[in-house]
Amino acid sequence: MVLYFSATGNTRFIAEEIARRLDDECLDLLTRFKTGDHTPLHSERPFIICAPVYVCEMPRFMSKYLQEQTFTGSRDVYFLFTSGGYCGISGVLAKSLVRKKGMNYLGHAEFKMPRNYVASDAYDMLTPEETEARIRAAYEQIGPVADTIRAGGKLTARHVFLFETIITVPFNPVWCKYKLRARDFYTTDKCIGCGTCARVCPLNNVSLKERKPVWGDDCTHCMACIAGCPTEAIEYGTITQRKEKYHFQKYSHVAKELRGQTK
Ligand SMILES: Cc1cc2nc3c(=O)[nH]c(=O)nc-3n(C[C@H](O)[C@H](O)[C@H](O)COP(=O)(O)O)c2cc1C
Repeated sequence: MVLYFSATGNTRFIAEEIARRLDDECLDLLTRFKTGDHTPLHSERPFIICAPVYVCEMPRFMSKYLQEQTFTGSRDVYFLFTSGGYCGISGVLAKSLVRKKGMNYLGHAEFKMPRNYVASDAYDMLTPEETEARIRAAYEQIGPVADTIRAGGKLTARHVFLFETIITVPFNPVWCKYKLRARDFYTTDKCIGCGTCARVCPLNNVSLKERKPVWGDDCTHCMACIAGCPTEAIEYGTITQRKEKYHFQKYSHVAKELRGQTK
């Protein structure tokens, strides 16, 4: 069973493609996150958990959810991470989480996908050409990963040394404390009050007041609201005003073409 969370579509693309190659079921965890649904998940085949990387690790709300979730049937777990190029200690933490649940960690794969963190002033967004090239390169990786999982093998990714783990562990909490502000989100007059931003927020942090979104304090900066807005009416301070907002959907023609080649 393939399980995934995806704020801006990258992880969804990988998850759906792996499920298609393995002829396995694919479950979007968004509704479960939003409703706190912990109905046990059962599969006789390995669990393949797909997640984006947020500040060097899987989203913390997701690891918390997985810790509390019951899995029945297969005891084997794989992780597939998508990132802008650096997965940090995602694999180390995933392995520890799986072992604490008494399940078997069969490794993880890392997919370098387009950057989506438009609200960060730490780096620029990619050009359309760079974005497309990353999607194509990631797609090439899916076949071998699917083959390994099909054969029940172990996935191997870049080795993370203990020293790297030690210096990376504090990075996430510090970033979250000083950078994760939701009060900088606002809408322009392009907002049509459709409520998509509230629907796609995994933490239920966006509510509508008089058909306009209002952000609470529980934000993980996943970019689902700003990237999912159909009229691109959401901005984050002055940072996003001149930047292209990334959503995988804008490159769905590339996905369609790639899938067409591997029917
Ligand atoms: C809050 C946040 C933090 C991020 N941190 C990292 C990071 O530490 N390393 C990295 O390579 N990419 C990072 N990214 C980029 C995403 O991991 C990457 O674009 C991912 O594929 C997005 O997946 P999605 O489209 O399924 O949401 C970050 C993105 C966000 C929104």
